[in-house]
Amino acid sequence: MDSIIKKILEFKKEDIPKYEPYLMLGGGTPGVNLVRGENVYVYDIDDKKYIDCTSQSWALNLGYSNPEINQAIKEQIYYSSHFHTGYYTIARYLLAKKIAEIFPEKMNRVLFTIGGGVSIEAALKIAILNRPKAHNFISLYGAYHGTSFMTTGASHIATMACGKYHGGSDLAHFSQNFIRVPAPYYYRPYFELTNTDDNDEVDRRCLNALEMQIKYGSTGPVCALLMEPLQASGGQLIFSKNYLQGVRDICNKNNIILIWDCIQTAFGRMGTWSASEYYGVTPDIMVLGKSMGTGYPINAVVISDDIEGVKMDGIDLHTFGNNQVSQVACLKMIEIIERDNILANVRNVGQYIKDNLLEMQKKSDHIGDVRAIGFHIGIEFVKNKQTREPDYEGCSKMRDDGFNKGIIFGVGGTGEGKAVLKIKPPLITTIKQGDEILEKFSTTVKDVYKENL
Ligand SMILES: Cc1ncc(COP(=O)(O)O)c(C=O)c1O
Repeated sequence: MDSIIKKILEFKKEDIPKYEPYLMLGGGTPGVNLVRGENVYVYDIDDKKYIDCTSQSWALNLGYSNPEINQAIKEQIYYSSHFHTGYYTIARYLLAKKIAEIFPEKMNRVLFTIGGGVSIEAALKIAILNRPKAHNFISLYGAYHGTSFMTTGASHIATMACGKYHGGSDLAHFSQNFIRVPAPYYYRPYFELTNTDDNDEVDRRCLNALEMQIKYGSTGPVCALLMEPLQASGGQLIFSKNYLQGVRDICNKNNIILIWDCIQTAFGRMGTWSASEYYGVTPDIMVLGKSMGTGYPINAVVISDDIEGVKMDGIDLHTFGNNQVSQVACLKMIEIIERDNILANVRNVGQYIKDNLLEMQKKSDHIGDVRAIGFHIGIEFVKNKQTREPDYEGCSKMRDDGFNKGIIFGVGGTGEGKAVLKIKPPLITTIKQGDEILEKFSTTVKDVYKENL
């Protein structure tokens, strides 16, 4: 065994204090020290096993340590891992063509990059090339597009997390050309409704606010509207097709480039390759990341045939934007998803988990809302169903108690804390593993809320 790998495997919990002072982290989940994983399970330094409903920030589409991905990258690594982005290389040709095949018909040109935030910035650069006289951007309340300098301006969550400004807010003034408009949060709208639960009214008012902002609230022409087609970190908010089509129409009418941040939705999590396929609405630019490399770092921007792309003039160039190992991992993942009909699995098992959660919701006074498409599942916890007062503390206890019971839940949402528990396991999760998730979820609710579901 290699000496470095040996050192890693022989590392003991007691060694941690000797090393931790040397490390700097800008965010995350302190406490749990993860060591290895297999399929949908991960093991910590005490060899405790967890079923992972986060897929490690929704990245491990095929779970941990998929043997076929391992084999493919092992073979690739003997030939090459890194050539500079500026050189023409073969794996990248194959991947660009494959991406054009699986995403909507018009989306045919791919720019590879190195991370979510910088990919969003690349998309904004492309928008500027296409609308050179327009300098303002629009994003949505509750959005998350990354923590790079520019994207903190777009990210409501990064600057207004947990009810107060911190972290990214110190940086956001470097990108003040972002204007934010309300997103349709049907369960908890940003404004008083005439009729509670009238989703059409929520859509109408959000679309109206967008139009007013473009017309009266911007200091100049709007270049691009940046949004997630399903707002993930903001609380698993599922938008209606009516709203998404309405935004598309408003962008067309006002000559605004529509950018969809598909970093969490693309590559199968909705049971389709993309949100465009799910809704039948296509943006001008799609941004891809996270699960794209099924654990290996790779991101991309895909543009429609209707707009201009970047030229080879150095406007977006990254040393590590052409990693063949990540490209091979992505190609292999797509091959496996197609061969094993994994998108159908996401639809079936996702629906099964959703149906069971809806049954549990009927018996609970704390499960306020269940929002789910495929393996994009969010459960909003409330103090009681009538008042819908968000239960940040309860949701956080659900997460902590979940760790004790061997399940990793995600949390998200806007407000003074995070009231939405997220269940977003790898796409290979079976019905049996779905049952395991549901069983652990209900026993966690039992301990946190004293409710028998
Ligand atoms: C929708 C969305 N956009 C952008 C990002 C930023 O991606 P990265 O962390 O790779 O910069 C994230 C990360 O969570 C995300 O969820």
